[in-house]
Amino acid sequence: MKIKESEFNRIQSYVYKNYGILLTEKKKTLVESRFTHILEVRGFTSFTDYFDTIEADKTGKEIAEFINKITTNHTYFFREEKHFAFLKEVALPEITYHEQQSKDIRIWSAGCSSGEEPYSIAMTLEAYLGKNKLLWDAKVLATDISLKVLESANRGEYERIQVEKLNKDIRERYFLKLNDEKFLVKDNIKNEVIFRKFNLVNNFPFKKKFHIIFCRNVMIYFDKDSKKELIDKFYNALVPGGYLFIGHSETIEDRSQGFKYLQPAIYKKE
Ligand SMILES: C[S@@+](CC[C@H](N)C(=O)[O-])C[C@H]1O[C@@H](n2cnc3c(N)ncnc32)[C@H](O)[C@@H]1O
Repeated sequence: MKIKESEFNRIQSYVYKNYGILLTEKKKTLVESRFTHILEVRGFTSFTDYFDTIEADKTGKEIAEFINKITTNHTYFFREEKHFAFLKEVALPEITYHEQQSKDIRIWSAGCSSGEEPYSIAMTLEAYLGKNKLLWDAKVLATDISLKVLESANRGEYERIQVEKLNKDIRERYFLKLNDEKFLVKDNIKNEVIFRKFNLVNNFPFKKKFHIIFCRNVMIYFDKDSKKELIDKFYNALVPGGYLFIGHSETIEDRSQGFKYLQPAIYKKE
């Protein structure tokens, strides 16, 4: 089934307006190839027919399914290892020092995909705090727009190839081997991560500010203006001195947004 330019433009502006996700022209062939079969099976005669259904569906399920199929959820444990080294060696010592009284550390993994990122953060927290972990409230909030990835993140079950690359110590300490092909994140780590559905284009509903925000490889979907708006929201959602981790192919272009560049893809709220 062919998608007409006008049909693509329609879904492009709908997704952009409501989700801040910019479908580049390249996605046109992707939409065509991924959806032709689905549309035929569901009895749609054209993309217009399908987009009418998406827009009429007030539950939001149709659009969520559409987005699930076109955005990439690629991620892996301890992606950009230097970020986790920085977390352990610089950010956590500083935060625990300042929060001696409150014993509260608030970290948010925004755009967490299937959970590898927030679990890696929780593992780093566990490794850093050691026995003192019990004294601290150090849960990680993990959010994504896609329910599909959140369900799998919540299960905490991963394929052997995703886990075998990790060093033996981490594998044995934080994973339970279910069988030759499947590994499960242990409960002491799983219980430290709270998964929620959240669209980053929306206003932030958080009452307390975060010490650290990870938003890596998510802003690639955003155009310049939506990205700027999101960075401003992150700025306001962080405590003074808080840290923002972004993806390596992403940058915060000018310092007017209040963040100080520390090292590749790591920024501090001044
Ligand atoms: C490539 S993954 C990045 C996962 C992880 N942060 C990492 O760097 O490995 C990007 C994730 O961002 C999510 N995402 C895209 N647009 C979003 C939005 N507007 N609100 C929330 N999540 C979004 C996608 O569903 C996807 O799971």
